Amino acid sequence: MKGIILAGGSGTRLFPATKGISKQLLPIYDKPLFFYPLSVLMLAGIRDILLITTLEDQSNFKRFLGDGSDFGINIDYIIQPSPDGLAQAFILGKDFIGDEEVCLILGDNIYYGNELVKLLNSGVSSASEDNKATIFGYYVDDPERYGVIEFDSYGKVASIQEKPTKAKSNYAVTGLYFYPNNVLEKAAKVKPSNRGELEITTLNNMYLEEGSLNVEIMGRGFTWLDTGTPESMLEASTFVEAIEKRQGLKVACLEEVAYEMGYISKSHLLHLAKKIGNQNYNQYLNQLAKQRHEK
Ligand code: TTP
Repeated sequence: MKGIILAGGSGTRLFPATKGISKQLLPIYDKPLFFYPLSVLMLAGIRDILLITTLEDQSNFKRFLGDGSDFGINIDYIIQPSPDGLAQAFILGKDFIGDEEVCLILGDNIYYGNELVKLLNSGVSSASEDNKATIFGYYVDDPERYGVIEFDSYGKVASIQEKPTKAKSNYAVTGLYFYPNNVLEKAAKVKPSNRGELEITTLNNMYLEEGSLNVEIMGRGFTWLDTGTPESMLEASTFVEAIEKRQGLKVACLEEVAYEMGYISKSHLLHLAKKIGNQNYNQYLNQLAKQRHEK
């Protein structure tokens, strides 16, 4: 399975902070925002990843990640000339995806919870073994900002509506999607919506209509944050700080994920640690190398 991080967009709700830099490069506590979605793809076992960015920001992302080898992954880059919608990821990423399944994650989404790897594995296996798409629903207070899941009286998913004026439920579709390879054909058929975007909701409704859409609910014990305003950036930083301080365990530490997944060796982990001046981060990686066995 291939992975795509959609990290373009204009970040207008964060202006002036994002006038000169992409939102996904701003820090959430001790690491850039895009580390969080990247760690999710890595935890799903995905090592071939396409990073879609704006023209102006591509070089900055390259300075962070290069070809991905520091984390034992392969990173490809492509530019989205303008933010024409989430479904455009599959048009831009057609050659990269080739004949494989694909997982798309938005560059500003943060996921945290102990069922995460289980949910990811179910998305991977539904796409590769059953030819089915998987999306995730999460109960929120302000569903109108998202794709909203409508349920029928039997609790079955009836439809998904993009940013409705009156939501039919509190379940928002999060920014993590697994698709079989036929997403390429379907994405080519998506027409721009009234607001001029290639909507991922249109794509998801195509799968729903043909009976090949799984909707997994992320329960209330699970945290999904999407960052886009100054308040939500600060809240996300405070959340990560609280978890990391309380447990002494890092959230979305790419070096740790790469080591735990067996993508990099212990000596490479120690080599990465040497370059990190943040003492707490540096000690964390050194401890990791000492405590846990290489896989
Ligand atoms: P949004 O939050 O919808 O848009 P934005 O990041 O441009 O912010 P604003 O509304 O403040 O202008 O985007 C959600 C995520 O998807 C974010 O990580 C950017 C990304 N995105 C793209 O990369 N390309 C697109 O065409 C769109 C619509 C979003």
